[in-house]
Amino acid sequence: MPSIPELIRKKRDGEQLTDEDIKLFINAVTAKKAQQCQIGAMLMAIWLRGMQSGEIQTLTREMMLSGEVMSWPNEWKGLVVDKHSTGGVGDKVSLVLAPALAACGCKVPMISGRGLAHTGGTLDKLESIPGFNIHQSSAQVLDILGSVDCCIVGQTEMLVPADRVMYALRDATSTVDSLPLITGSIISKKGAESLSALVLDVKFGRAALYKDLQSAKELAQLLVDAGNGLGIRTGAALSRMDGTIGRCVGNSLEVMESLETLKGNGPGDLMELVTTLGGMLLLMTDMVPDLSEGRKQISDAVIGGAALYKFQAMMEAQGVANETARSLCSAHTDYFSILRKSEHQMELEAPADGVVVDVDGLALAQVIHKLGAGRSNVGEPVNHSVGLELLVSLGQRISKGAPWLRLHYEDPAPSRDQILQLQNALTLGHDANPQQGLVAEMMLPR
Ligand code: URA
Repeated sequence: MPSIPELIRKKRDGEQLTDEDIKLFINAVTAKKAQQCQIGAMLMAIWLRGMQSGEIQTLTREMMLSGEVMSWPNEWKGLVVDKHSTGGVGDKVSLVLAPALAACGCKVPMISGRGLAHTGGTLDKLESIPGFNIHQSSAQVLDILGSVDCCIVGQTEMLVPADRVMYALRDATSTVDSLPLITGSIISKKGAESLSALVLDVKFGRAALYKDLQSAKELAQLLVDAGNGLGIRTGAALSRMDGTIGRCVGNSLEVMESLETLKGNGPGDLMELVTTLGGMLLLMTDMVPDLSEGRKQISDAVIGGAALYKFQAMMEAQGVANETARSLCSAHTDYFSILRKSEHQMELEAPADGVVVDVDGLALAQVIHKLGAGRSNVGEPVNHSVGLELLVSLGQRISKGAPWLRLHYEDPAPSRDQILQLQNALTLGHDANPQQGLVAEMMLPR
């Protein structure tokens, strides 16, 4: 049996690791037999030398097997689905998609993450609802899926322990941005959910991890291959992430916009993403004959209120008081009587007459992140009330002095530079640019 230093040397020198090598290494990580420095060295060797597709496949499988792998009743066979997004600004898709899929007959054990850097996290958004408990054991997830068909929860201690160790060390060793490591980390967790189908929303653009379509496609292909390799029907959408998704960014504000979407008043871009990703999943589970029927069923579930009903039931099952859940889902909710409103709001005005040709989502997200909407280190609290509302859409004509953005803030107040950064995020022109759809390409399993 090779020693861990031998395995590190092998990868360092650009050799391929065998299935046995990878299994040995992951077992040593999980059993805490590998020293932190050895794990860090192997991560850096992988970062430098990369991995062949067979190695990525084995890494993903062994990571998945490092902890509990969920199992579902036989009658759910073919119905258990989830999605993963590489992170965006104002990305509230999960809050609408999970209940919409449940309303269409799927089982959705959605395991989500927290926000890091400028991108928001679904768990932080949900925790702005008083009482919402994202900590659910596997037994509780099974129970909730039995009665409500969907839940949105955090990763349990038992799921993919090898990733917990490696992820923390990736941060500490500057090896976060390694395609094989990203693939293993994301897909092993999805594998442990024992999914039938998975859709990946891989974003590209100014406010995304990958700035150009080509590099996003490279990641998407690796993720799709690794998912399919585990027996999960896996597809991906490549979606633009330059501005914001919808008009609200920030935890409480995004919950409000999600609820409005579930009441049939959602913005077009959010609906495009929800119906495309949901439609792909319905197609991959053979619940519909083609993508357009899948899109239609998801859209009907959202517009017709069936998804809202599921969201209400999910909130109640995850700890929200019945009265609160009912009130949030009623037709004329006073959202701020339940969700916390920031102590201060400030409106920014258009500096000239013109047409809105661009809104820089990254610049906006960076400012509210610093004002407390996001965290810089794992474990830090976030201020759920901090965020912003865009008061204009792309292509809209606006007059000088008209408000275009409402900032919600508390302590710290925005500095002059931050206000300037927000103001510079708006570009006005003479004519509207032709509007491009958000989804540039799709990859569907054959
Ligand atoms: N999300 C994960 O879970 N892992 C990564 O490596 C990147 C995003």
